[in-house]
Amino acid sequence: NLAMNIVVFSGAGMSAESGIQTFRDSGGLWDTYPIEEVATPEAWIKDPEKVQHFYNLRRKQIMEAEPNAAHLLVTQLKEVGNLIVITQNIDDLHERAGTEQVLHLHGNIRLAKSSGPNSETKYYPIEGWKLSLNDTCDDGFPLRPHVVWFGEEVPMYPVAEEVINNADILIIIGTSLSVYPAAGLIHQAKRSSKIYCIDPHLTTESLPAGVHLIRANASAGLQDLLRKLKEI
Ligand code: APR
Repeated sequence: NLAMNIVVFSGAGMSAESGIQTFRDSGGLWDTYPIEEVATPEAWIKDPEKVQHFYNLRRKQIMEAEPNAAHLLVTQLKEVGNLIVITQNIDDLHERAGTEQVLHLHGNIRLAKSSGPNSETKYYPIEGWKLSLNDTCDDGFPLRPHVVWFGEEVPMYPVAEEVINNADILIIIGTSLSVYPAAGLIHQAKRSSKIYCIDPHLTTESLPAGVHLIRANASAGLQDLLRKLKEI
């Protein structure tokens, strides 16, 4: 049924099989780097060098990584309906796997923006993996990574809300659903939509009633689900 709207809502677990660490699993990124030192506006004011370095390392790792089987399986959902991916991830692995419509809720690390007051007006592609504090924007402010920090607005939220609201099938993949407002999006789906969640660690108790949990890694879970959806 080509009229069906399929929305994938992905988190860090989506890219785990590409070798990119998640944030909150044991040994996750936030164990090594305290959030308040690298991912807040206050951190940028206090030690911009440290923040820049943290994201430079993330960008380098992401550029060296490849889309995994799960990113590729997501592209096959196009055969089942109209596909839109909403990702909390700042990597570009969905795009590199071939998904055309990707909405980045928390930004895209391959882009830079002004660290001044008009940060959301323009995004600049970053050459290579390194952004330096000497790289300044047209407005004279240093460029910063195009990522949403803790405590900042999520400019794409209303757009994502609308997309989720139009979903006939919502597939949540690899997110602990612990960061708001992003996690609240799953409650914006309409009553009639079918909701699946693919994650090896989540439990049904931690999910809203009616969500079908597939307790598996992203690639294995998607393989199962695709088989099922293609039969419908
Ligand atoms: N396949 C699928 N899911 C996996 C896999 C895997 N191979 N490995 C781990 N997971 C799951 C974990 O069980 C967990 O539920 O991925 C989830 C990762 O959760 P988090 O680390 O909290 O990542 P995420 O939910 O994307 O974080 C949300 O928080 O740090 C901020 O802005 C950052 O966008 C991020 C947001």
